[in-house]
Amino acid sequence: MSFQGKVAVVTGGGSGIGRATALAFAQTGALTLVADIARVAGEETAHLIERAGGKALFVKTDVTCTEEVDAMVVAAVREFGRLDCAFNNAGVVNRDNIPLAETSEAEWDRIVDVDLKGVWRCMRAECRQMAQQQTGAIVNTSSIMGKVGGPGLAAYCAAKAGVIGLTKSAALDYAGLGVRINAICPGGISTPMTVDASPTVTEKMALLVAATPLGRMGEASEIADAVIWLCSEQASFITGQAIAIDGGYGVC
Ligand SMILES: NC(=O)c1ccc[n+]([C@@H]2O[C@H](COP(=O)([O-])OP(=O)(O)OC[C@H]3O[C@@H](n4cnc5c(N)ncnc54)[C@H](O)[C@@H]3O)[C@@H](O)[C@H]2O)c1
Repeated sequence: MSFQGKVAVVTGGGSGIGRATALAFAQTGALTLVADIARVAGEETAHLIERAGGKALFVKTDVTCTEEVDAMVVAAVREFGRLDCAFNNAGVVNRDNIPLAETSEAEWDRIVDVDLKGVWRCMRAECRQMAQQQTGAIVNTSSIMGKVGGPGLAAYCAAKAGVIGLTKSAALDYAGLGVRINAICPGGISTPMTVDASPTVTEKMALLVAATPLGRMGEASEIADAVIWLCSEQASFITGQAIAIDGGYGVC
């Protein structure tokens, strides 16, 4: 697959799934804008791309800030001339199991603002540009937790389920304008979010692996492969889908 001359934006590009996907886009020839709230990590991804011979730009972007999200898309168009692919992936999860009735309003707002409204902010800016171009592909990161429930994860599950709804609705809004929009629903993936995060998370991941038919965690590169494919011409008749990449976890 070649994305030579195409322009890709990846949010949460400083770590885990986002970093792996930014590197994968760049390897296929895409001009890649790495967006992250974490400057050092995001710049490191951009350096890794440049060191491997690719072209990258880091733009510090907090997806909870509308001005920064709009500026991210403006920067992609200013620097690279257009926007072909967007991976809206920045996300946070609560570290501890918090039963619904004990979840504070601040914690609910924190998670929903990044994981759901952040995706909405990004899509809004991206769709404006892609509609103008009459072409584009967007992939949003949901989670298998957006399809099933997770104990102590009410805000996260609600936000990730919301991403699936957003994806389907936006896919219908923009299908006639040449823009395809899909979501991915990863199962347990080895990233800083899940590995050595906290004893509670480690325990949760062990349970998740035990319930995963393929019997292991996934790798960030396995998610990157799916995102690249969904953005490619090989997926030209796919829109509005929420695709599980979970080793079979969601089937059980
Ligand atoms: N790792 C898993 O098992 C798993 C499973 C399902 C879904 N996901 C989802 O995949 C996405 C990536 O997760 P990951 O595992 O790579 O985690 P990660 O913690 O390694 O990476 C998340 C990145 O998002 C960035 N980020 C956080 N808040 C931000 C904000 N407000 N604005 C911009 N950037 C922000 C972080 O700085 C970090 O670089 C998340 O949406 C997560 O919910 C992960």
